[in-house]
Amino acid sequence: MDKLSLRPHLSRRPSAPLSGRASVPGDKSISHRALMFGALAVGQTRISGLLEGDDVLRTAAAMQALGAEVSRDGADWLVAGRGIGGLTEPEDVLDMGNSGTAARLLAGILATHPLYVVVTGDSSLRKRPMGRVVEPLCAVGAQFFTRAGNRLPMTILGARDPMPLSYRLPVASAQVKSAVLLAGLNSPGFTEIEEPEPTRDHSENMLRHFGAEISVTDAATGRHIRLRGQPELRGADIAVPGDPSSAAFPLAAALLVPDSHITISGTGLNPLRTGLFLTLREMGAKLTVTAQRQEGGEPVGDITASYSELRAVDVPPGRAPSMIDEYPILAVLCAAARGTSRLRGLTELRVKESDRLSATAAMLRVNGVNVEIEDDDLIIHGTGAIPGGGLVETHMDHRLAMSALVLGQITAQPVLIDDARFIDTSFPGFLHLMRGLGAQMAAA
Ligand code: S3P
Repeated sequence: MDKLSLRPHLSRRPSAPLSGRASVPGDKSISHRALMFGALAVGQTRISGLLEGDDVLRTAAAMQALGAEVSRDGADWLVAGRGIGGLTEPEDVLDMGNSGTAARLLAGILATHPLYVVVTGDSSLRKRPMGRVVEPLCAVGAQFFTRAGNRLPMTILGARDPMPLSYRLPVASAQVKSAVLLAGLNSPGFTEIEEPEPTRDHSENMLRHFGAEISVTDAATGRHIRLRGQPELRGADIAVPGDPSSAAFPLAAALLVPDSHITISGTGLNPLRTGLFLTLREMGAKLTVTAQRQEGGEPVGDITASYSELRAVDVPPGRAPSMIDEYPILAVLCAAARGTSRLRGLTELRVKESDRLSATAAMLRVNGVNVEIEDDDLIIHGTGAIPGGGLVETHMDHRLAMSALVLGQITAQPVLIDDARFIDTSFPGFLHLMRGLGAQMAAA
C-alpha cells in the first residue's frame, strides 16, 4: 500500500449526545445488481438511490466496458441494456477495485458470454478466493485461468454452448448463488440451486422484477431456487433503499453514547439482512421501526435508536448469513455491553475485505478490550468501560474503519485509525453524516 496516501483519522467521545435524523446511501448489494440486471435487460432501467461508492462505480464502469450504456440523469442512473447474451468484449482489463461482490457476480455473467475478459482488483481483492465461483462456473462450460489459490487477476473464456447447472451451495454465500443465477440467465433449460441456509435474496427479487421466471421453495434440505434460462429481461425502474449494513454504524453510535436519540430513514429491512437488529434487541437495545413500506420489491422503514444499557449476547452460527457484514460493529457493541458475548461460526469473516475475524479482535485488543478467538467464535469480555487510545489497522477494510471510529465515541482515550480512504467503497459521506449527528471524528 502507498503509505504516503494513507488518511489517518481520529475519533473521540462527543461532548453532547447524538441526535437528529439522516438517511444512509443506497444498498450496496442492490446497487450492483441493478446495474448488472439493467445491462442484461432489453430497454431502459432507471435507478434511483444508487450507491455512488467506489465498489458500485466499478460495476457501472465494467457494464459500460461490456457494451451497456450507463449514464446519470439528475440524481438517477440510467442503463440501456444489451439483452441477455448481448454483451461485447471489453478493450481492456476490468478492474473491480475493492469489491468481491462485483468480481464474483461479473464472473457469473461472463461465464455464459463467449468473450475473452480479464478481471482484476486492488491488493485486498487480489487476496480473496475466487474458487467458490470458478468451481461451479467451470461446470457451466466456461474456462477460468487464475493465479495460484484461485486469486485475481483471472482470465475468463465464457462458454459458447453453456449448460444449465444444478448446484448445492457448499458455503452460505449470496455472491456464489448470484453468480450461478447470472450464468443461468444465458443457459438453456433450468438452473437449480439449493441453499442449505438462506442468504440475501436480492438477485431473486430483482430477477422477478425484470420479468424472469424464478421460483423459490423451502424444503427440509434447504431452500430451492429454480430459474428458467434465456428469458427476456425487460428494463425496469428500481428504487434502491438505504443500506442496513451502513445504517448499522450511526445506529450503533446512538445506542452507545448516553442520552442519544437518532432516526435513520428509508432503510432496507429485507428479513435476510436484519440479523443485527434481532441481536441488538436481545442485547436490550431500544430500537423501533416506523413507516414500514414496500419499495421496489423490498421492505423499507425508518429505524430509531436511543441510548441503551446493553447486555452480552450469544449469537448462533445460523444467524451469520443475515448479518455477515455487521460483526465488526456488533463486536464494538459487545465490548460496551456488560458480560461475555460469544459470536459463533464466523469462518466466512476470514475471507472478507480483510481477515475480519482477526482484524476485529485486534481492533478491540489494541483499545484495551479482552477478546479471544476460539475456533471460529469471537468471544468478547465486555466491562462497559473501554480505555481506547489504540491505533487500529484497517487493512483496506471499510467496515473495520467505520467500526473503530464508532468505538472511539465511548472510549476514555481517542481511537486512531491508520486509513479512512476505504470508507468510500460503501459509505461515501460517512464522516459528514456522523458529524452531523454529533459524533466526533476528524482527520488526524
Ligand atoms: C453480498 C454477499 C455477502 C456480503 C457482501 C455482499 C452480496 O458476501 O458479505 O458484502 O451482495 O451478495 P458472501 O456472499 O460472500 O457471503
